[in-house]
Amino acid sequence: MMRTRPLKVALLGCGVVGSEVARIMTTHADDLTQRIGAPVELAGVAVRRPSKVREGIDPSLITTDATALLKRGDIDIAIEVIGGIEPARTLITTAFEHGISVVSANKALLAQDGAALHAAAEQAGLDLYYEAAVAGAIPLVRPMRESLAGDKINRVMGIVNGTTNFILDKMDLTGAGYQEALDEATALGYAEADPTADVEGYDAAAKAAILAGIAFHTRVRLDDVYREGMTEVSAADFASAKRMGCTIKLLAILERAADGESVTARVHPAMIPLSHPLASVREAYNAVFVEAEAAGRLMFYGPGAGGAPTASAVLGDLVAVARNKLAEATGPGESAYTQLPVSPMGDVVTRYHISLDVADKPGVLAQVATTFAEHGVSIDTVRQQGRPDGVGKEASLVVVTHRAADAALSGTVEALRKLDTVRGVASIMRVEGE
Ligand code: NDP
Ligand code: HSE
Repeated sequence: MMRTRPLKVALLGCGVVGSEVARIMTTHADDLTQRIGAPVELAGVAVRRPSKVREGIDPSLITTDATALLKRGDIDIAIEVIGGIEPARTLITTAFEHGISVVSANKALLAQDGAALHAAAEQAGLDLYYEAAVAGAIPLVRPMRESLAGDKINRVMGIVNGTTNFILDKMDLTGAGYQEALDEATALGYAEADPTADVEGYDAAAKAAILAGIAFHTRVRLDDVYREGMTEVSAADFASAKRMGCTIKLLAILERAADGESVTARVHPAMIPLSHPLASVREAYNAVFVEAEAAGRLMFYGPGAGGAPTASAVLGDLVAVARNKLAEATGPGESAYTQLPVSPMGDVVTRYHISLDVADKPGVLAQVATTFAEHGVSIDTVRQQGRPDGVGKEASLVVVTHRAADAALSGTVEALRKLDTVRGVASIMRVEGE
């Protein structure tokens, strides 16, 4: 039966994502009413700059006092699309204190304070939904939290940051410079307010922490996620990757240990074969592989950033939370019962591509190979090439290893740096997806 009294929604933030949420709520109002079983009404919009012109939004709804909006007594659901830690955290807590369920796109906050926010929601008997926080439009949180709740997820690997994928894609395919590609991604609304969060891997690490928690039913904090950004990836790395039949992507990789007793979570650039499906993920698209015991390998693919795609995920949550409100129920909360520890990066086992600048003289190759052997790292291939600027004096040596522990590789590199014949370690990159 259709309820005529509307569910009232407070929109906290009206930027790239919020403005699209407001637009879709308005243009699809009739459909949303039918799907939910009651009208949803935009009852207030909190922003920082009230004088900014906001197309399609009734100016009387705009306020700079988000707290007062939540406290006024008639709000059912708050949508937090401000971003960052504060005031978002206090506003979400205030919402729960006033009986308001929350939809958020804020991965930074959820990765840092997800446990406390989940606890606050549960204590208040309210919903906290955040599909948009990971991989933009792609349905991923709900499939992992609900559809795969009966299975056992062992591994998740994917591209979860649109900005960096956009930059790497441009560098690879058009030879564009890093800054030029970043400026374009920012103009398209993909980048975070501070793009350092994207390019240094913090945004992907936050998403990795959220996904790892859901995948392994444990609590993974942002600090538990090993993180390397993509600012050091160079044209030379792409050239080297190409020679190996690979490209370079910023990956998030979450793994359950073979004995099932621990997990690892990491974000770093990696070479992947061109034949791997992730290699053809272009522009700001994201793609995530989930490997589950019974289901096998699943791939989720779609737009990973941008106003309208992200608003789609927010609206999906809004419908779910609104339905729960009408049913006087709540959706699933945090599941962290396995309490699996997160192992350090040193325990991760993978392959490596190491590029060295070495003296071009007899015995150097043997010295380098011995150093790898002494640390228990087995070499798969070696490619040496004299440098045009150092004929007879310097050469580039590219070593690709078999699978080895990250700690063993770090020890090898440390020892290589101490060799007189090694002039420098130009780059170290993991090789994944083979
Ligand atoms: P924007 O910077 O475009 O928008 C932020 C909004 O918050 C603005 O409307 C701003 O007001 C408002 N705001 C800032 N401070 C306050 C405050 N103190 N009180 C009230 N309002 C405030 O960010 P996005 O829309 O890009 O991102 C929002 C969230 O969505 C973030 O958590 C982000 O990580 C996440 N997200 C973003 C995606 C994207 O592609 N952009 C994709 C997936 C998630 P004003 O307009 O006046 O400046
Ligand atoms: N800045 C983020 C990205 C937005 O580029 O992926 C989507 O979460």
